[in-house]
Amino acid sequence: MLRVLRSYGDDEANTENATTLMMRLGGPNAPGQHGIHWHTNPGLVIEYVASDADRQTIPWVRVTRPDGSVQDCVADGTTAGRIPSDECRTMDCLDCHNTIAHRIEVSAEAAVDRALARGALPRSLPYLRRESVRLLQASHASTDVALAAIDEGLRGFYKSESAVDAASVGRAVSALRAVYERNVFPTMKVTFGVYPDNIGHTSSQGCFRCHDGSHAAKDGSSITSDCESCHRMLDEVP
Ligand code: HEC
Ligand code: HEC
Ligand code: HEC
Repeated sequence: MLRVLRSYGDDEANTENATTLMMRLGGPNAPGQHGIHWHTNPGLVIEYVASDADRQTIPWVRVTRPDGSVQDCVADGTTAGRIPSDECRTMDCLDCHNTIAHRIEVSAEAAVDRALARGALPRSLPYLRRESVRLLQASHASTDVALAAIDEGLRGFYKSESAVDAASVGRAVSALRAVYERNVFPTMKVTFGVYPDNIGHTSSQGCFRCHDGSHAAKDGSSITSDCESCHRMLDEVP
């Protein structure tokens, strides 16, 4: 599966930077059963213990393979006494796909990048990335106050910029307000980044909760941290 991840600069041109990853999705039906969805093989059981309620720190992992063999992988610096077996969880889809349905973006920057990438925020407006992030990061007591501040803030900024068309500014205001309304809920104390995203490893530990190279078995092997076991980086955007 191909993933093109686009981000933008805070410069006048909102310069685009793209990372293209060929995800090795694989799956239980793929030859040799390798790749990311190797995890979903029904004959395979992965159990783990997390030391925090958000399951972001995982000191202990047990793999039971289809042939019945069992392997325990323990993170560097973990003492046996810190593995409470009654808090063991069996890994399933949601340990990776934990931000399905209504996804709260991991940061204002990520939300703005996504809106620019899909064209909802017009890239033709100078400094739109920088100004959008600034307006989204300001904290407000209520949604109404925030939406008014976004409207006023963006229109105010472009008033002093010559050669921008009013229609694009109008589009940017509605798109930015929509991003705010989808991600920030002041009365519920929900905002960008309150929930970790376990797919990947850049905004939080994600896959690296186990795949950090420090979770070792008795035979000295460890859960892989080889970049290419999960994805291959391509030089060009196809
Ligand atoms: C709870 C621990 C845990 C988490 C979290 C986890 N994995 Fe794994 N994963 C394992 C274990 C254990 C193995 C088997 C040992 C090995 O292959 O290194 C494995 C194996 C793999 C393999 C190799 C399968 C093969 O044989 O080809 C891939 C690819 C993989 N995981 C991808 C991911 C990705 C992507 C994420 C994050 C979205 C992730 N894993 C999150 C524990 C985990
Ligand atoms: C080890 C972590 C992991 C587990 C467990 C896992 N997935 Fe995935 N899944 C991924 C990754 C990584 C991708 C690639 C998407 C990406 O990079 O954002 C993916 C992609 C997908 C896609 C394609 C999504 C799209 O955007 O087209 C579907 C559908 C999916 N998974 C379903 C499932 C289901 C159902 C299960 C449980 C039976 C499951 N996955 C278990 C990590 C995982
Ligand atoms: C266990 C699997 C796994 C390993 C090992 C792994 N990655 Fe990733 N990586 C992922 C997944 C899953 C994503 C998320 C893709 C997405 O957002 O759809 C990702 C995303 C990325 C991104 C894009 C970040 C962004 O948001 O722009 C980069 C860059 C990256 N990985 C580099 C690396 C490098 C370098 C290594 C080796 C040191 C590495 N990865 C090892 C699974 C892995």
